[in-house]
Amino acid sequence: MTIKWVLTGLVAVVLLGTACDSSKKLPATSQSAKGLKDAFKKDFLIGTALNTAQIQGKDSAAARLIQQQFNAVTPENIMKAEIIHPQWNVYNFELADQIAALGKKQGMKVNGHTLIWHSQLPAYARNIRDIDSFHTFFTNHISTVAGRYEGKIASWDVVNEALNEDGTMRKSIFLDKLGPDFVTDAFRLAQKAAPTTELYYNDYNNEQPAKREGCLQLIRKIKEAGVRIDGVGIQGHWHIGKIPLKAIEESILAYSALGLKVMFTELDIEVLPRNFSGADVSQRMDNNPTLNPYVNGLPDSVQQQLAKDYEDLFRLFLKHKDKITRVTFWGVNDGQSWLNGWPVRGRTNHPLLFDRQYRPKPAYEKVMKLKTETATESRGF
Ligand code: G3I
Repeated sequence: MTIKWVLTGLVAVVLLGTACDSSKKLPATSQSAKGLKDAFKKDFLIGTALNTAQIQGKDSAAARLIQQQFNAVTPENIMKAEIIHPQWNVYNFELADQIAALGKKQGMKVNGHTLIWHSQLPAYARNIRDIDSFHTFFTNHISTVAGRYEGKIASWDVVNEALNEDGTMRKSIFLDKLGPDFVTDAFRLAQKAAPTTELYYNDYNNEQPAKREGCLQLIRKIKEAGVRIDGVGIQGHWHIGKIPLKAIEESILAYSALGLKVMFTELDIEVLPRNFSGADVSQRMDNNPTLNPYVNGLPDSVQQQLAKDYEDLFRLFLKHKDKITRVTFWGVNDGQSWLNGWPVRGRTNHPLLFDRQYRPKPAYEKVMKLKTETATESRGF
């Protein structure tokens, strides 16, 4: 027991040293240094979304950070239908093959994102009028894409964002052409094509009570049909100072009570003004200079609030680590976040743990420190 505590203490000292020291380094370079993935190794996977340059290995600074910090990756765009299945009979697997290979080489779990989503559908699919043809597209797409990566990636977001905020089914081409059972059907097809790959439903705001209720119903329906669903992704596109911790905790408990793995799949914290929540990419706001206040960096007070928000979130994640299997950030560094371009184009956003120079931010230190505190507490200090 004494030896175990001494070792735990040593790990704590190493991690604390890493966290404090790394904030001063420019940028983080050592591939052997301990990162998030090491600190949370016994708790859950730590993932990031990869853009095309990162998948192709063209961003060497990102490559170092990815190897050091993350043990799970999700392609941010290149497995979406528009890119991977651009024409009726044409599939473009090159980049998806590359991320699968990258994951294998570096021991990172790859989550496929996403088989069925109303957004980023190829034009020919959006324009199909006839129900039978649309059904053929739906079937071929899932069977071909999920089939190709069976045994090569760990999991799929099978269906993405099928729900409205009130928990009803979103009006989409899938609902319109195939009816409300399309979600169950998508999981059935994915299960057939990829029998050993984990299958998830993914959405934003599905921690909020009404949408959560709709999500729980959807999951029950899939299960009652005898179809496999392994987990649920809560995307986690939240706002600074407004993290819905209570709703998140209730959701972790409710989803895991159905026997599902819970994941936070697209985590980032918006620091810029916005008058709505969520991540509906069709919602936009007009540009105006007051909406872009942090072009030259985050003021300290905002930086500290961001750090506190991430600390509170990860404390909650750790409390429920037996139910949570992965926490994935939506992007590697602030400069690469989609939030620089949405819902207003050309803003300077700061939603992640690493800044534009790949330097860890105070939020990173707070998150890492939770693990050293845990180690210290478990020794009774
Ligand atoms: O690839 C083209 C490029 O050729 C072109 O020059 C450029 C000009 O704008 O656009 C490029 O495509 C963009 C693509 O990202 C790749 O950068 C699209 O316009 C842009 O709309 C697209 O945005 C993505 C968005 O999904 C679109 O649906 C974001 O990067 C991506 O982060 C975001 O991710 C979604 C998740 O998949 C689901 N949950 C919400 C999340 C945030 O919206």
